[in-house]
Amino acid sequence: MILTLLLSVTTFSIVARNKRKDNDFKNLKVYPVDVPHEKLDRDMDLFSRALGVDCGFCHYHEGDNWDFASDKKGHKEDARRMMRMTNDLNEKYFGANLKTAKDSDLAMNCYTCHRGEEMPIIPWDTLNVKPKPIPVPTNPWGNYKQ
Ligand code: HEC
Ligand code: HEC
Repeated sequence: MILTLLLSVTTFSIVARNKRKDNDFKNLKVYPVDVPHEKLDRDMDLFSRALGVDCGFCHYHEGDNWDFASDKKGHKEDARRMMRMTNDLNEKYFGANLKTAKDSDLAMNCYTCHRGEEMPIIPWDTLNVKPKPIPVPTNPWGNYKQ
């Protein structure tokens, strides 16, 4: 009887632990610690494509030796700030519930602004937004007669 009890307690704690964390990530500050491996991988691909870069833009490595948990590269911290901003935009301004929404339902992601560039580009020359001269009124007081 005691043995069964012990066994079930052990099983439960293993299940609980697995449920809490199904990955071996070491340094997450924006994602919840239990973010599924699959979701993180998908996002890392999106980050890279959205900015037109490879993993090494944000992650420290020496040759083939990658240290994904390291914060040595400043772009990783930039990206964390961008993740927080993008989450806020989706949540506050587009009413998304980040716990339940599918990626494809979210209004904003990195690509929305970056369009394949490290820094979002504003094509001022093609936008053709030269300010038009403001017409100067001949009678600034209009119909009001003194
Ligand atoms: C634009 C920057 C950027 C790019 C590009 C990028 N990552 Fe990341 N990556 C991050 C950030 C930021 C985190 C940490 C997220 C957090 O703190 O919750 C992270 C975390 C990770 C982690 C978890 C590390 C740990 O143990 O804590 C792995 C693994 C990872 N990235 C793999 C990749 C791979 C593989 C690629 C290329 C396909 C890639 N990343 C491209 C920004 C980037
Ligand atoms: C609302 C628009 C917007 C969204 C969404 C956005 N970014 Fe940015 N990002 C910018 C702007 C604008 C800059 C340039 C900031 C500056 O001039 O300092 C920038 C700069 C960056 C930089 C620094 C690049 C460099 O060379 O210094 C990184 C890294 C970055 N973003 C990653 C991301 C990632 C990853 C995401 C998605 C999680 C994302 N951004 C989503 C607008 C956005």
